[in-house]
Amino acid sequence: MPDKVSEYVLQQLRTAAMSALENAYAPYSLYPVAAALLTTQGKIVQGCNIENAAYPSGLCAEASAIAQLVSSSGYQRIRAVYVLCAADEPAWPCGSCRQRLNEFADPELEVYAATQNGILQRADFIDLFPHSFGPANLRGGEK
Ligand code: THU
Repeated sequence: MPDKVSEYVLQQLRTAAMSALENAYAPYSLYPVAAALLTTQGKIVQGCNIENAAYPSGLCAEASAIAQLVSSSGYQRIRAVYVLCAADEPAWPCGSCRQRLNEFADPELEVYAATQNGILQRADFIDLFPHSFGPANLRGGEK
């Protein structure tokens, strides 16, 4: 099993996600979500869900965090993602966001799913998104 990020880094991810959760714009679902990403270079960025009156135009927290990462720093591999929600049960990334994460995923990408009230679950991304279609398919196998 890949190494886990340290407890210290996990707390940094939680702090970043907590701050983004305050900015979540979820007036339709009333389901605020935040995501914090850790890159292999040690950068942490955060995002939140941003809903829209035209529902399909809404953005998931993971998607907004990836947009923040790439627009601020360009391409970096994602080593950990921390998804924080205000509900009683944690939320795992949706199918579309698994595909989005896959584009930037370090082979050891860890996924943490947490609630505000202290539930924390963990999975290896490879177990959440096996047999994926990704960059290697379009680059003749190069990762
Ligand atoms: N949502 C996320 O932002 N991330 C997830 O991992 C699950 C779902 C958002 C999308 C929508 O704004 C709300 O949660 C309800 O689906």
